[in-house]
Amino acid sequence: MRHVGGAATPAGVDLTPRDLGQELRGRRVTLRPLRAGDYRAWLEVRTRAREWLVHWEPRRAGAPYLSEDRSSFVARCSMRERDHQLGTAFSFGIFVGGSFVGEINLSSIQRGASQSAYLGYWVDEAHAGRGYVPESCVVVFGFAFSELSLHRVQVAIIPRNRPSRRVAEKLGLVEEGLARGYLEIDGVWEDHVRYAITSEDWAERREAYEKDWLGSADA
Ligand SMILES: CC(C)(COP(=O)(O)OP(=O)(O)OC[C@H]1O[C@@H](n2cnc3c(N)ncnc32)[C@H](O)[C@@H]1OP(=O)(O)O)[C@@H](O)C(=O)NCCC(=O)NCCS
Repeated sequence: MRHVGGAATPAGVDLTPRDLGQELRGRRVTLRPLRAGDYRAWLEVRTRAREWLVHWEPRRAGAPYLSEDRSSFVARCSMRERDHQLGTAFSFGIFVGGSFVGEINLSSIQRGASQSAYLGYWVDEAHAGRGYVPESCVVVFGFAFSELSLHRVQVAIIPRNRPSRRVAEKLGLVEEGLARGYLEIDGVWEDHVRYAITSEDWAERREAYEKDWLGSADA
């Protein structure tokens, strides 16, 4: 994994503005924070893939769906920049060959005795099945453990979401059990299977992950 555009910082705090524009690179994917100029590309993907995405997205019953207008998008970019500055969440667009294809984010970063975060992700339906999300997860694990010094990254998945569970399985994340009524997804309280990777797992598997997911395309 190569980190481009920012100096490595040990604890995920006091990130400089230069770090906020940091790009993280995998074999095929580039991850970077979304900016206002990404709106058209984001909207094009979001419009095409809306039906495929909304059934898996957090939303309170009766609450509106995600606002897709330009000002809401720009406001979200600003909020995320603020989260980056505070070290409470890190959100990235996933780009392949310069094109926007999805999003991945580390949220609810807890420090103190927890040192943990949640990982969420999605990819455009037109780009599903090409391993872009597991590759992006490995890049984000490197960022979470090597740069933010977190101890644990967790993923929570609705049991019937087979594609997402396959991502967790392919990455060898440890299944830790079922959390009942864990999140309100598209207006319904849904059970979630919880998966996690710890920094000890990362240290053990890092080489294999990088070989399997980040090695040269010809390897
Ligand atoms: C779950 C998701 C992120 C997987 O991303 P991805 O980059 O396609 O991941 P992979 O390429 O490793 O594919 C994972 C599995 O998806 C399934 N899959 C493959 N192509 C698919 C397609 N066109 N449509 C749906 N599922 C497909 C396969 O079961 C695949 O497993 P396999 O490689 O063993 O065959 C993506 O399907 C998605 O964004 N879904 C909608 C939103 C969502 O569920 N987010 C996660 C919430 S926890």
